[in-house]
Amino acid sequence: MPEAIRTAVRNHGGGHANHQFFWEILGPKAGHSPKGAIADAITKDFGSFERFQSLFADVAVKHFGSGWVFLVGNPSTGRLEIMSLPDQDSVLLHGKPGLLCCDVWEHAYYLKYRNRRPDYLMAWWNVVAWDVVDERLHDFMRETSQLQSPSSAAREEP
Ligand SMILES: [Fe+2]
Repeated sequence: MPEAIRTAVRNHGGGHANHQFFWEILGPKAGHSPKGAIADAITKDFGSFERFQSLFADVAVKHFGSGWVFLVGNPSTGRLEIMSLPDQDSVLLHGKPGLLCCDVWEHAYYLKYRNRRPDYLMAWWNVVAWDVVDERLHDFMRETSQLQSPSSAAREEP
């Protein structure tokens, strides 16, 4: 990509990708606790859903300035991780598929919550569509198992 447009693409392209993702994981079927595979994966990798919420909120509250907090899948370990990114950076830059994300730019909450980011985060859990997050986890698991399957490993041998 030409140097002259790299920053603009990173900011505007990342902003588009992040917001599209954000609107997809919020929805009318939201407000419940995770069920099925996503609930099991969160418990396995973070201890419990409550502990995951606490860790995610802690990263989001402490994030300096504008940015995003993501729950991602790490393809090399198969585990879930919490990742915070500055400005409009995308998880696509890090090769870790996003499962869930929260916009922590002030524009996401200042009209209703002023400077109270922790209150916004508390309310945000009520609109997370866990069924969509679960679909994203299944995509991640499918892609990771293809990467690590014996047939693909055999193809990589000389
Ligand atoms: Fe935003």
